[in-house]
Amino acid sequence: MHAVVLVGGFGTRLRPLTYSIPKPLLPVAHMSMLERLMDSLARGGVTHAVLALGFKPEPFMAAFPNDMCGSVQLSYAVEDTPLDTAGAIGFAARTAGISETFVVANGDVLTDLDIASLISFHRQHGAEGTISLTPVSDPSQYGIVETDKNGRVLRFVEKPQPGMTTSNFASAGTYVLEPSAMVRMPGDQKLSIERVVFPQMVADKSLFAMWSNDYWIDAGRPDTFIEANVHVSKRSAQATDAPIHPTATVAASAVIIDSVIGENATVSDGAQIRHSVLLPGAQIGQGAVVIDSLVMGKVGANSQVSNSIIGSTGVVGDNEVCNNASVPAHDPAQVPEKSPE
Ligand code: GDD
Ligand code: MG
Repeated sequence: MHAVVLVGGFGTRLRPLTYSIPKPLLPVAHMSMLERLMDSLARGGVTHAVLALGFKPEPFMAAFPNDMCGSVQLSYAVEDTPLDTAGAIGFAARTAGISETFVVANGDVLTDLDIASLISFHRQHGAEGTISLTPVSDPSQYGIVETDKNGRVLRFVEKPQPGMTTSNFASAGTYVLEPSAMVRMPGDQKLSIERVVFPQMVADKSLFAMWSNDYWIDAGRPDTFIEANVHVSKRSAQATDAPIHPTATVAASAVIIDSVIGENATVSDGAQIRHSVLLPGAQIGQGAVVIDSLVMGKVGANSQVSNSIIGSTGVVGDNEVCNNASVPAHDPAQVPEKSPE
């Protein structure tokens, strides 16, 4: 089984982390989102995956030098300009020569969904496309789906305004598609699967959806990225999921609560890390307090950082207070400001 994995977005909501590392390659605990996703695709029977790339393709190729991710054989489709979701799927599926039923996955989703059961639901219903659904508390952040009792999709509304729908079932960013659906996605121009292609399939009564209550999170926002890290670090004893990476240096007097401390990160005497993620190489000075934040750079002694993102080149000096901040605020390499997520 082939899969198209969408990994070409700019990761704007996780800037400035994504100035240096593309969103799907950011670690959740100590393994990238993409490797975790690929593991779950492999468990569902995926053997080949084409990465639909645009922004920063090189780090992906460098991350998988043998073009293998676990047991999955990788190939790459690099867009000249961002084609949006359906444009990217059409382009990548053609580049990989896909001609049978295939899976599509958003690259920032972490889930225990059993993909094999989604595929068999799709086949049983003779669907052109089948969306995996998950219940959410804030429908405005997602593609929201209404179905009839047989699972046929009656409506798909991307990021609904309040009052537009009473459903709280979101598209979980994993789909099964028939190759015939590629006619709707020529892959030579920008096209959204959520705003154009799914509504067309709804009109043709060929789109279905399967609900599941498995663990699911879109880790593409600062709050959900922290939540995903904390969840994974608490649920298993595997080395890739440990709250503190074995190469991290954490002073005995430091306090670490509901947080993940990445590879080669340093936490000095008396520092407190609460509900935060220190990415590989982060350095936290003596007595600093880090709350609800993501840090890849340096935080000076006795500083207080809350609700902030400190990128790899970001430095918070000693004795500073940093709240709701992004450091640095702009990309030194100047990524265009108006860009797809
Ligand atoms: N190749 C390529 N080209 N990939 C892209 C492009 C593009 O132009 N634009 C976005 N992507 C990729 C992103 O990298 C991400 O993996 C995926 O497409 C979805 O984009 P997001 O920006 O993460 O979308 P979202 O989280 O706001 O919403 C999507 O996911 C939700 C579930 O997590 C939608 O599909 C919603 O309907 C869905 O509920
Ligand atoms: Mg997302």
